[in-house]
Formats: sequence, structure tokens, C-alpha cells
Amino acid sequence: MKALVLAGGRGTRLRPLTHTSAKQLVPVANKPVLFYGLEAIRDAGITSVGIVVGDTGPEISAAVGDGSRFGLEVTYIPQEAPLGLAHCVLIAREFLADEPFVMYLGDNFLVDGITDLVDAFRESAHDAQILLTKVDEPQFYGVAELGPDGAILRLEEKPENPRSDLAIVGVYTFSPAIHEAVRAITPSARGELEITDAITWLIDNGHRVHSHLVSGYWKDTGRLQDILECNRIVLETIEPDIRGSVDGLSTITGRVVISPGATVENSVIHGPAVIGAHTRVSDSRVGPFTSVGKGCVLEDAGVEYAIILDDCVISGVSELTHSLIGRNVEVTRTPGAPGTHQLMVGDHSKVRLRS
Ligand code: DAU
Repeated sequence: MKALVLAGGRGTRLRPLTHTSAKQLVPVANKPVLFYGLEAIRDAGITSVGIVVGDTGPEISAAVGDGSRFGLEVTYIPQEAPLGLAHCVLIAREFLADEPFVMYLGDNFLVDGITDLVDAFRESAHDAQILLTKVDEPQFYGVAELGPDGAILRLEEKPENPRSDLAIVGVYTFSPAIHEAVRAITPSARGELEITDAITWLIDNGHRVHSHLVSGYWKDTGRLQDILECNRIVLETIEPDIRGSVDGLSTITGRVVISPGATVENSVIHGPAVIGAHTRVSDSRVGPFTSVGKGCVLEDAGVEYAIILDDCVISGVSELTHSLIGRNVEVTRTPGAPGTHQLMVGDHSKVRLRS
């Protein structure tokens, strides 16, 4: 069995971060979300992985390399434009050959991994297995309508008026029958070759498609609130590990990782939280549910429920919460102009200030 990981696409919902970097590399507990998927694939006993990449291909391949650090053999499959999930299967034909495979969307996160799902598929005679889970806002997902016997009646991609609250999770398993399906369908109204259409084609043409309801934790990390929530969940499982230096005036409570070379002075770190390598925290409160990347400076700052990427400076600013802050960002107090805010933010940024 092989794996096809989709790491192309545009990531419009995480702009401005995704103007400059791949959404699959946004860190969760200081590790790119894509790495959790690759580890889950390896843990399911799969070693041969094709990664579909688009414009951010060089960044993805710089991060993942040949896959050996994960125990994987990675082949990169360039996609000229994000033409749809089924298009990814189409261009991966040669890599996939005639083996069954798991297709994993690179921005998806499953806490329980995929081993059980892959094992169930291996033991079955199905041509496709999809995972469904109940969500509050099904209009943002592929949605399945099931009959009374659990058979799939209909699959729709991001319907305006969803017929159920069952979203399609971004992990699919297929037999080689999918190749005929992706060749048979035509682009949807939004111009993409939809995997939902290919699966519908399988059903209409008498193939065995199985749906499986998952109850464990799953997130598509494509939206701010989802990636922050994902970060919270992962941080709650980290093993405390203090490698950096913490002075006697500081307090560390709960699950906290202080990476090598980091320094904490006169501060409170309220776990769960991770502080990246060579980050300096002084006179600050950090956490809970906060990941701070490498090489940052937090001074006289208060941050909770946030992801801060590498090389940021947060100075003289408290009550920062529900925030995702990109690389090399400065958030500081306005010098000498009380009551004013001064901003220089990138395109498509979101800034929320207390009025
Ligand atoms: O997360 C689950 C949802 O994922 C499903 O419920 C939907 O049915 C499915 O279409 C998908 O919806 P998204 O809107 O989240 O798809 P997105 O465009 O974010 O693409 C998912 C991943 O696949 C992402 O890592 C980018 C990559 N991708 C996407 C497209 C369209 C590619 O590599 N190439 C592509 O052409």
C-alpha cells in the first residue's frame, strides 16, 4: 500500500501567512502540521509516499527532504495548479501504479492517527473508504448523505444547503479502481476535478464504497480557529521538558517545554506551552495553550492561546490571545503616542484591537 499526500493548493483562508509559506507547514506545538500526517502514515506501516506539491514545493521539500527522517521514501509530484483533489490522483498515476493507497490531505490532523483505518481497508474488499464525522458547519466541507442502512446516497462538495451534518474527513483509501473514476469525471462549477465526483462515479458504476463514522478528534487546519484548537489539543499531550534556562524568579506550571538555548527570566509560563530554541522570555506571562517558535523575544508581554512563529518580537504588549503570528513579526507598544495604534500589516491580515 502507498500513500498520496496532498500539499499543494493555495491556503487562502490562512492569509497572509500563506502568501509566503505553505499552509501544511504551519506549526502545531512547534512542529509542522504535515509532519503529524507523515508520522501517522509511517505508523500505519506505509513507507512509499508521493507528495503532491504546487508553488510552495521547494519549501515542502526543504522541510521533508527524502523522507528518511520519518522512515519514509518520498517522491515529489509537481502539480501545475490546484486543479482539484481528483486531479492529484490523475497526475500521481505512475507513482501509484496498481497498488491501493491512502490519500491524505496535508492540512488535516487526526489525533488517533490512521492505523486502524488503513488496517480496516486492507482487510476489506472495498474500492474506496471515506471517513465521516459530525461537524457544526457542514457547508465548509464535503458532505455525505446516508440512507437508513448507512449506504452513501449522495456526496456534495461544500453545499450551500447541506443535507446532513456529516463532513468528509481528508483521509481516503482507494483501490486502483479510482483511476478510471478520475479519468471519467469533468471539472466542477469551481473548475476543479472533485474527489467527491470521482467517488460518486465509483458508486454509480457498481464499485464498493464504504463510509466509516469517526468519533475521535479531527481537524482541517485551514482556518485560524481550527489551527489554534489543534494546537491546544496537541499541547495537552506534550511531555514536560525543560532544557533551556529558567531563573529563580520564574514560575513554570503544568506541561511546559523549554527548548535548548531558550531563557526564561522573571516570568510565568503557564502550561501547556512550548517555548522554542533560543527564544528569550523576560518579565512576561505565557500560556496556557501557547506555542512560541525559535529565536523570539518576549519581554513585558502577556500571551495565551496563541501560535507565534520563529523570530518574532512581542514587547510591552499584554492580553494577546486567540492569535496566530507569522515569522519575523514585531508587536510592540506605540512609542510616545498614548491611545493610538500604529500598524504595518501585510495583505489579507486581520488585526483586532480593543477599542
Ligand atoms: O478537510 C476536509 C475537506 O477537505 C473535505 O471535507 C472536502 O470534501 C475536501 O474537498 C477538502 O476541502 P478543502 O477546502 O479543505 O480542500 P483544500 O483546498 O484545502 O485542499 C486540501 C489539501 O489538498 C490541502 O493540503 C491542499 C491540497 N491540494 C488541494 C487542491 C485543490 C492540492 O495539493 N492540490 C489541489 O489541487
